[in-house]
Amino acid sequence: MANDLLKGKKGIIFGALNDKSIAWKVAERAYEEGAEIVLSNTAGALRMGEINALGEKINAPIIAADATNVEELDLAIDKTMEHFGGGFDFVLHSIGMSPNVRKKIPYDDLNYVFFNKTLDISAISFHKILRVCKQKDAINEWGSALALSYIAAQRTFFGYDDMADAKALLESIARSFGYIYGKDKKVRVNTISQSPTMTTAGSGVSGLDLLFDFAERMSPLGNADALDCADYCIMLFSDLARKVTMQNLYHDGGFASIGISEEAMDKYKS
Ligand SMILES: NC(=O)c1ccc[n+]([C@@H]2O[C@H](COP(=O)([O-])OP(=O)(O)OC[C@H]3O[C@@H](n4cnc5c(N)ncnc54)[C@H](O)[C@@H]3O)[C@@H](O)[C@H]2O)c1
Repeated sequence: MANDLLKGKKGIIFGALNDKSIAWKVAERAYEEGAEIVLSNTAGALRMGEINALGEKINAPIIAADATNVEELDLAIDKTMEHFGGGFDFVLHSIGMSPNVRKKIPYDDLNYVFFNKTLDISAISFHKILRVCKQKDAINEWGSALALSYIAAQRTFFGYDDMADAKALLESIARSFGYIYGKDKKVRVNTISQSPTMTTAGSGVSGLDLLFDFAERMSPLGNADALDCADYCIMLFSDLARKVTMQNLYHDGGFASIGISEEAMDKYKS
């Protein structure tokens, strides 16, 4: 259901890989709500080619950038501003990857080169994007920048490995940068802490199917899926959330506030 919530707004969306990606759903919903979009992902992801279908569908140019590389981000933001003929109103950071998770290296035996990569790709890249945008005054006043997080930033989830540390850092960056960007330019910066979601990044976490089932039983509203998440992003990009900043916002069907649910208890009966 479209309500023109983003009519006249422009934004850049990082991290749409395929039609399961949360960023993909956000891009589709933002377009439906009247926004003009630029898409960005790594050169490798672009070579996989699936993003082209999305670009065509929503009439969005696709710009390659490794979000850990400031020079590439610099160029990507320049090209985005050129395309829009000036600044834009929203940014989605939907980027995450841990080589330790991919290689199933346990937390007490982390490879530190990989650990640095995890932090750079999954958290520090958000700082880099915000920094490049602020230096170029790329985000318009009352603009909105969002990144996607997970509750493992607050509580330990077996198997989430060094991504938990990356999410804690990501949420901290949103607060620290949110203060400065809000004060100087009235730009909002928030993170959304999303339910487990069946995506390419999600399936890298060992036992995601079990985690998904556990969260589903624990959440009174059930897990939020990628489309639910897209709806929440649209609201936060819109003018309906003008005074929301420096927050980590749980979008998880109630999971974050539950100790034990009846449905989870049932699992232990017999
Ligand atoms: N899937 C879940 O269960 C879940 C839950 C909570 C939060 N999240 C977060 O949502 C975000 C999006 O993930 P997703 O689940 O849609 O999976 P996804 O695999 O579709 O998206 C991850 C994206 O990160 C991109 N990426 C990786 N390295 C990059 C780099 N160096 N520069 C730029 N882009 C890079 C990938 O190309 C991909 O498009 C991630 O931050 C993830 O941690 C996911």
